[in-house]
Amino acid sequence: MKHKKNVLLLGAGGWSREHWIANVIPSFTDELTICGLVDKNKEILNDSGKVLKIDKKHLFTSIELAFKSTRPDFCIVVLPPHVHSTAYEIAAKNNVPILSEKPISDNYEDCQKTYQLIKAKKLKMAVIQNYRYEGPIMTLKKILDSGELGKIDYIVARYASDYRKAKSWDVGSVYDMKEPLLLEGSIHHLDMIRYLSNSNCKTVQGISWNPKWSTFTGNSSTLSLFLMENGVKAIYEGNSNEAGNINRWHQEYYRVECEKGSITVNRDKTVRIYTRDSNGLPTIRIPPILSAPPSGHHKILRDFIDWIDGGKEPETSLNDNIQSAMMVFAAIDSNEKSATINVQTFLPTTNKKI
Ligand SMILES: NC(=O)c1ccc[n+]([C@@H]2O[C@H](COP(=O)([O-])OP(=O)(O)OC[C@H]3O[C@@H](n4cnc5c(N)ncnc54)[C@H](O)[C@@H]3O)[C@@H](O)[C@H]2O)c1
Repeated sequence: MKHKKNVLLLGAGGWSREHWIANVIPSFTDELTICGLVDKNKEILNDSGKVLKIDKKHLFTSIELAFKSTRPDFCIVVLPPHVHSTAYEIAAKNNVPILSEKPISDNYEDCQKTYQLIKAKKLKMAVIQNYRYEGPIMTLKKILDSGELGKIDYIVARYASDYRKAKSWDVGSVYDMKEPLLLEGSIHHLDMIRYLSNSNCKTVQGISWNPKWSTFTGNSSTLSLFLMENGVKAIYEGNSNEAGNINRWHQEYYRVECEKGSITVNRDKTVRIYTRDSNGLPTIRIPPILSAPPSGHHKILRDFIDWIDGGKEPETSLNDNIQSAMMVFAAIDSNEKSATINVQTFLPTTNKKI
């Protein structure tokens, strides 16, 4: 029988409390023991410690001390993005595999440093891209992969939330960031473009901006055009100040135009396949939605545990996720330089001295 794994959970408030502690960890109590919990905020730490029924001696305000005092089989990082690389560095120093919330980091240099460090250490690391594992997306993906609609020509991806009211997007410091949408949010959508197209990205040409009526400081909207390595094109529309036609989190719009028809999913979570019948008349088919895990986190944590046990590398391992992260940084670069950017030149090399 496999032994119960010790897990160090980094981050006890925000998303950790809302999703990991409330929904994910309780589904894995037979397999995992939270051997330590970390948060710099003592009140949050004690409070979440009580929910998880963790002894006070396993609660830490220092990441360094937590790794020194516990012997985790792996760690889960649910800290704000600007703290991720510090946590990864300490985990790597202690040879502890990492399952991290997206994004790898909020800046390119830390992303690069992390990639090189984890590769050099040959450490297992995966990143949460939970949006891949929702019923409508799984259905869309299965139909695309089946070849029923032939080859993919292009993808239209739309995300639009109404965050016009200051602080209504309650994640990290998004209202003060230079590129809040691309750095904090878009990774989900750009990763989806890679996932649906089955390809890494070749080039990006994009603009990002902040509308006059926005309460954000930095660029909260983007229109970016991607050319994938396999020839698929994709347009990404991201809007944090949507006043009417919402496609917020978990309600994004995707339309994939293919050789023999097109397929969409919208905020109603219904997948629609548009084709022509033998008489040339338009047809719309609504396929049944595939059953999905309770959340994408459940699926990725399952895959990560299996990987630790010698199973196959999860689909959202660092090797894969670095490609989605590079799309984000290349899109920002494209806006800054008003130029078409080669995404692959952003991929960190692994032979540099760390
Ligand atoms: N996958 C998803 O759908 C999803 C959804 C929401 C958030 N997230 C991600 O989850 C992560 C956490 O987001 P959040 O909104 O909870 O962030 P947050 O800013 O609320 O911070 C989370 C916790 O980290 C603690 N913390 C901050 N700095 C610390 C440090 N140096 N040492 C110890 N503790 C520290 C804070 O006190 C807080 O309790 C981010 O990477 C975010 O992008 C993912």
